Amino acid sequence: MMRISEEKINEIAQANDIVEVISSYTRVKNSGKSYLAICPFHQDKNPSMSISQEKRVYHCFSCGASGNLFKFVQNIEKITFMDAVEKLAQRAGIALDLQSYSPDLTNEITLLLEINKIAARYFHDTLFDLSGAEKDFIFSYLRKRNLKDYTIKKFGLGYAKKDWNSLHDYFRENTEFSDDNLEKAGLIVKSTKDNKYYDRFRGRLMFPIFNESGKVVAFGGRKLFEDDNTAKYINSPESKIYNKSKILYGLNFAKDSIRSEKRVLLVEGYMDLIALVQAKFTNCVSSSGTSLTDDQVKILSRYTSNVSILFDGDFAGIKAAKRGIEKILQGGAELRITVFPENEDPDSYIANKGINEFGQLINSGSDFIEFISNLLAKENKLKSVADKTNFIREIIYFISFIPDKIKRSFYIKKLASEYGLYESLLQDELNIALKKNTAVKSSTEIRKEQPFNNLKKNKQSVISRIETELIEHFIHGDNEVIEYLENNLETSFIRSEHALKIIQLFLDEYLNDGKIDVAKIMNSIKDEKLIEIIAAASTEKYKVNDAGIKDRNAILNSVASIKMNYLESVKGLIKTLRIEKLEREYKEKAKDSSKLDECVKLKKEIFQLSKN
Ligand code: GTP
Ligand code: MN
Repeated sequence: MMRISEEKINEIAQANDIVEVISSYTRVKNSGKSYLAICPFHQDKNPSMSISQEKRVYHCFSCGASGNLFKFVQNIEKITFMDAVEKLAQRAGIALDLQSYSPDLTNEITLLLEINKIAARYFHDTLFDLSGAEKDFIFSYLRKRNLKDYTIKKFGLGYAKKDWNSLHDYFRENTEFSDDNLEKAGLIVKSTKDNKYYDRFRGRLMFPIFNESGKVVAFGGRKLFEDDNTAKYINSPESKIYNKSKILYGLNFAKDSIRSEKRVLLVEGYMDLIALVQAKFTNCVSSSGTSLTDDQVKILSRYTSNVSILFDGDFAGIKAAKRGIEKILQGGAELRITVFPENEDPDSYIANKGINEFGQLINSGSDFIEFISNLLAKENKLKSVADKTNFIREIIYFISFIPDKIKRSFYIKKLASEYGLYESLLQDELNIALKKNTAVKSSTEIRKEQPFNNLKKNKQSVISRIETELIEHFIHGDNEVIEYLENNLETSFIRSEHALKIIQLFLDEYLNDGKIDVAKIMNSIKDEKLIEIIAAASTEKYKVNDAGIKDRNAILNSVASIKMNYLESVKGLIKTLRIEKLEREYKEKAKDSSKLDECVKLKKEIFQLSKN
């Protein structure tokens, strides 16, 4: 059996951002200081899961699912605690004790990440170490493409020399990685002629490809030299860390911006993405030449339900746009489409027309009906009755990808009124298309089977309001507050068994560690109820009003406006608790007439206390 030290577990917990991890399973949005997520543990329409990035815990105020990072991964993946630890260690590139645990897998991922990191640094340094004619040539190319130095640095762009072995030599001289592993990482290739290795990327501008958490998992290389008649772009091969269909280039940089803009701009190329980001359109990702995949759509849907696709005006671009439309509609997102004029792409358009005109163009994007009709009109294919029939069929084909029935009927209505057709006729056509389109059916079915674990029926908790507040003060207060609690809180003040246990855990942790790390404490708690109470107290709360309607904005505003002075309020809490305790004593004693004197004393004490 494996044992992982508590320090290691802590290291792993610290190295993973809980918001990022949860983001990789469900949509998370930023609401000021805290984060709200669509709870993946029940069928959640509005975001009900509150995440505290600082405290590293989550709590669903609707179904009660709560815990720290490990618990989240454990429950969502339905794996053991140790497997969750291992998974998160891998994600953060932390090596576990190899002797005691499945060495290969962990090893290879960590290894490939390390190799790619070193290679990225090497390519980048090479670019800035250039001199003479080579430097002039490369930098004139970069300038021609409007790449500013800060952009080159941000994206870690680099240069692979024209030589056959420069990267390989670098690794041989400076590291101990075997050729075998460098080949696995896709950086060197064995020649079929003489069985010797040579560098895969030669004479190319190098684009490190980052995964969602910003680690280099592969490279794209653009050719730079006229006499090179190999492909314009080459990429690293797929590996344990690089799955082309799951990567969106630039997502690691764009995450926050997509959330705050509530929209993602989807482009085709590396250079397009970089040009957009440089022009301050930071909510942008690139599919990098592959046609959009289901996985990519799923990833985007965690960040936003508004997608603007920005595709080249050429044939390939339009074809890619059409396929993108199907996938995006199927994913249930709202969609705008901007197709660039012939021979232009987003990158060249910004360079030629400037940022303002570019901004206008993407804001004037069309929905998919307009997109198709513009396209056909341009090709002169909207003239005859037969043409128009084809057009309507094509639109209905796209509508059939939309999983939401109401949305479908909205588009049918729109189509009917715009083209003077009978709605019922279009509905019939749609039904036929839907029957053919099995993809939509199965995706709606999957939606129904969402896991329902952790549902807590009894929302009524035995813990009192004031005890909850006390726990909140332990969690959010600084050391001064906790010292105060330690000195003034008496166990007899606490009536709930749960609250008492939690407070004891907190005080133990404080005495041992000098601070209260709730995410860490959770690792040692078995009782779900305790975890839920702690998580609820760690995250921001949202109240449901009498009608059961959650007015999120109002709630968020009020949460933001309450800036607690914890020390002041904790003094108040302790006072209240002390009075409550004395009152309980008083009630007991008042039953016994022989204890009149004590009763009077108690009353006096209570009076004194409540006065100041
Ligand atoms: P620039 O010419 O540098 O502006 O590139 P671009 O992004 O405008 O190129 P293009 O529109 O031709 O291609 C879009 C994307 O498809 C690129 O960014 C690459 O990710 C990918 N791509 C283009 N050409 C090739 C190729 O020859 N091989 C591979 N594997 N991918 C390519
Ligand atoms: Mn281009």
